[in-house]
Amino acid sequence: MPLLEVDNVTRRYPGHLAVDQVSFSVEQGQLFALLGPSGCGKTTTLRLIAGFEQPDSGHIRLHGEAITHLPPYERRVNTVFQNYALFPHLTARANVEFGLRHERVRHVGNGPARDAAARVDAVLDLVQMTGKAASRPAQLSGGEKQRIALARSLVLEPDVLLLDEPLSALDPNLRKQVRGELKALQRRTGVTFLMVTHDQEEALSMADCIGVMNAGRLEQTGPPRGLYHRPRTRFVAGFLGAVNWIDGSGVRPEAVHVERDGTQGRDATILAVTFLGNCVHVEAELAGGARMVAEIQNPRSEFRPGDEVRLWWRGEDEMRPEA
Ligand SMILES: Nc1ncnc2c1ncn2[C@@H]1O[C@H](COP(=O)(O)OP(=O)(O)OP(=O)(O)O)[C@@H](O)[C@H]1O
Ligand SMILES: [Mg+2]
Repeated sequence: MPLLEVDNVTRRYPGHLAVDQVSFSVEQGQLFALLGPSGCGKTTTLRLIAGFEQPDSGHIRLHGEAITHLPPYERRVNTVFQNYALFPHLTARANVEFGLRHERVRHVGNGPARDAAARVDAVLDLVQMTGKAASRPAQLSGGEKQRIALARSLVLEPDVLLLDEPLSALDPNLRKQVRGELKALQRRTGVTFLMVTHDQEEALSMADCIGVMNAGRLEQTGPPRGLYHRPRTRFVAGFLGAVNWIDGSGVRPEAVHVERDGTQGRDATILAVTFLGNCVHVEAELAGGARMVAEIQNPRSEFRPGDEVRLWWRGEDEMRPEA
């Protein structure tokens, strides 16, 4: 039985269908990512699961039991908000403790007999913030604030942790580092994570399973590699990475080979070459006028605009979405 089931859930705002018959399930211990562009309904879906919103139709189940109409505090789920929502006047440790104090009022979480201080210590250790427990949020870096926000939720031992764009407040370099840390933390705790993001690289690198949303609908659900290589729709193909669309099928730039004196493939003329540090993008025009981009990791020879080349790719690298 899946841990969490979202079953045909719809949420309508006046004049807008924010979530349209969405169904997916999350297995125990998984990191599931809901991925999609701005406004596609990701946060609304999380809010429905957390209980801050009520669906117009459909069901939400946790451990097979309907939680659709339970108030938020009776659901064993917890949300880490995008802006972390830490209390500026409290220390890191007190921010984490605050979650627990709240918990006693709300009767959520297990182990009331366990010492609260020990639980806070353990979770601060888990997020590697023991040394900064006495700091206030203003004295912490973005990544450290994020870890305290996580600790505050993890201390409640939720069955599912909902994370809304957990890394978006971080600068790009830190984001990549924290990606790995967050994933490792999820593995260590074994807590099921449902994360919302509009960053396809984040979803591909962190998630066990991705659900791609578009305009309120869930277009496809599956493991990262499956979605990347076998997208069911053009939208999913394009949202997960660049695609060259040729005669109704698609090929990703990294699958396109460029050869100066090849015998296979199609004739093309190079239009532009862009050096990107770890790779080179070669834009070329095929004999029929179509344009393609090839991403080359270690070009053996230098290509220049105007060069006559041949482009080829393997048939198995062609994607043929149904819609
Ligand atoms: N309270 C509301 N009343 C009316 N419309 C709303 C409300 N909340 C959200 N919406 C609309 O529902 C749609 C989905 O919003 P949602 O916040 O779920 O998007 P999102 O996928 O999280 O986007 P982002 O990536 O920008 O955070 C949007 O078009 C939004 O304008
Ligand atoms: Mg959102």
